[in-house]
This record gives sequence, C-alpha cells and structure tokens, in this order.
Amino acid sequence: QNDRDSQFILSNFAKDYYQEILFNHEQGKTIGLPYLHERGLGLPTIKIFELGYSLEAWDGFTSKALAQGYQPRYLESTGLTIVKDDKKYDRFRARVMFPIHNVSGRVIGFGARTLKSNDKTPKYLNSPESEIYHKSDVLYGLYQAKNAVRNQDVCYLVEGYLDVLSLSQGGIENVVASSGTSLTEGQIKLIGRYTKNITVLYDGDAAGVKASLRGIDLILEGGLNVNVVTFPPGDDPDSYIRKVGDVVFKEYINAQAQDFITFKTNLYLHEAKDNPVKKADAIREIVSSIAKIPDSIKRQVFLKQCSALFGIDEDVLIAEFNKIFHQNR
Ligand code: UTP
Ligand code: MN
Ligand code: MN
Ligand code: MN
Ligand code: MN
Repeated sequence: QNDRDSQFILSNFAKDYYQEILFNHEQGKTIGLPYLHERGLGLPTIKIFELGYSLEAWDGFTSKALAQGYQPRYLESTGLTIVKDDKKYDRFRARVMFPIHNVSGRVIGFGARTLKSNDKTPKYLNSPESEIYHKSDVLYGLYQAKNAVRNQDVCYLVEGYLDVLSLSQGGIENVVASSGTSLTEGQIKLIGRYTKNITVLYDGDAAGVKASLRGIDLILEGGLNVNVVTFPPGDDPDSYIRKVGDVVFKEYINAQAQDFITFKTNLYLHEAKDNPVKKADAIREIVSSIAKIPDSIKRQVFLKQCSALFGIDEDVLIAEFNKIFHQNR
C-alpha cells in the first residue's frame, strides 16, 4: 500500500466522518443542516455531493482518526490535520464540508465554508496540494456532472461550490467549478474529454467579468468553444436561480448566452460609444482572442463575423490579425 492509497483511504474516512457529524451530531443537526436548508439545498443534493460538517472543536476529527489507527503522517500530508510544534489540530472547524472528488469518484480533498459572518479567517478554506490532490487538474462537481456534460454536449462553468449545488439541484446537472484556483489549462483539458463546449457563468461583479475574459482566452487556446452568460450586478448563479426559480433561470441562460465575440463587443463597445480610438481598441481586443484559436478555419469564420459586426473591411482586419497572430507565436 503506497502513500497515495493511504491518502485516498483517509480522505474517504474524513468524508464519512463529516457526513456523520452533519446528520447525527448535535452541532450538525442544529447548525450545519439548517444552514444548508436555509441555502435552499435539500437532502438529495446534500447526499449526492456527500456534504458534511466539521465540529467547532480543536481536534474532533484528528483525535477520532488517530483513535481509529490512521497514521499521523497521512493526517498531515492530506492537510486534514495541522501539526504545529507537537500539537495536532483540525484544519477544518465549524465549517460546512464539500468533498472534492476525482473523476472516478474518490475523495481527494475538501472545500469548507465557515458559517460565521464575523470570521477573521477566509470564508472558504481548501485542502492543500497533496499526492492525490492537484488543484489545477480538478474540477468541483465533475464526477457528478460528467454524464450530463457528455449528453448535453456543453459544460457550465461557475465560480463556487454553492453555484454548482444550486444549479445541479435545479436540474442543470452539467455544471462544474474551478474551486480554489483560477481556471487552468489542465481543467479545460479535463472538460474537453467530455465536451468541446463551455459556457462560462461567473459572478455578476467586476471580478467575475475579469475572470470571464481570462477564461475565454484560456478556453479558446485549449481548442474549445466558449459562450458567456452574465448576471445582474451582485448576483451569482446560486443567488440568481434562487431568486427567479429553475424554469426562468434556464430560459435566462439560453437567452443570454453570448459567443465570446458578442460578449467582448458588448463589453468594450459599451465603453467606446462613438469614440473611434476606443472602437479600434475594442476590435484589437477581440482579434487578439481570435488569434488564440488553434483551428485556422474557426479563426477565419470568427474574423468574418467580426468584420461584419464592426463594418470593417475584412482585408484590413486580417492584416491586423496577422500582426497580433505573429507577435504571439
Ligand atoms: P465567492 O466569493 O463568489 O463565494 O467565491 P460566494 O458566492 O460569496 O460564497 P457564498 O455564496 O456566500 O457561499 C466563489 C468560490 O471561490 C472560492 C471558493 O471555491 C468559492 O466557492 N473561494 C472564495 C475561496 O477559495 N476562498 C475564499 O475565501 C473565497
Ligand atoms: Mn464573495
Ligand atoms: Mn465573487
Ligand atoms: Mn459567488
Ligand atoms: Mn454565492
């Protein structure tokens, strides 16, 4: 039995332990479970995603695991236990626990949300990297989503755990989050095993727009197709689906999905108005995204769309494109 096996086994034990606390311990029943219900999550979703709760205690998990014979070195290497001097204490305390699964369904790490509004620690904590948990190659929810992603031939990409859970519960099961990191090339490759189409559903704030722009280029570079749905300022997919309901939410994302050119055009032309300099900048922005696409036929199609959209002569656009294209390679 190697270190990875030991970490898998311990992570699975931790998942069972946190679930046991959520459903059967006083703190789980009076704090954890009511919180999840308040956030609109029902038992089926809680069970499908194997959610749990960690005790408000220094070493609830650690002492239990040690008593069961789990070895301190794996408690430490999975990050479930923090070892400081000769003291051992739980990394996750008084938090809702979100197990993170690999695509074959084994637990490899955790996300954890505090329930305290005045917490000085971060709202979300994640397991650190380990031999079994490589953040940059993991997508939260993909294990539960993969069949739906393949069948629907599109993957919805959201920012957070709660976004995944709310959408999945609302019948949009083909949804994943790049939790704990910003989107990576590895995560896009992973989605690419199941579909070539990603629709980005990030939060309706400045950070969400910025992350969408970065995501678009990364997805295009990975050779996948990308659409974007934006949400009203202050909303994220979770808050929005709770506000409008499943049916209206589905209509909204179908009606609002924009291809990356339309999304960037609306974003930049909104600022540009009739200012020709800004308009030129906007066009260059879009052309630079097109230059990321590996497939030359797709590049051609998008350049045509762009020239029609802006009323720019195609040869002029292609000349500009070639400049940017060759700078990049
Ligand atoms: P958000 O900051 O959008 O979460 O982070 P939120 O929508 O406010 O959270 P809720 O709805 O109150 O629960 C989105 C994701 O970013 C990561 C988490 O994966 C989270 O789900 N994140 C956020 C962290 O890793 N650490 C943080 O401190 C905050
Ligand atoms: Mn936030
Ligand atoms: Mn946010
Ligand atoms: Mn959010
Ligand atoms: Mn949220």
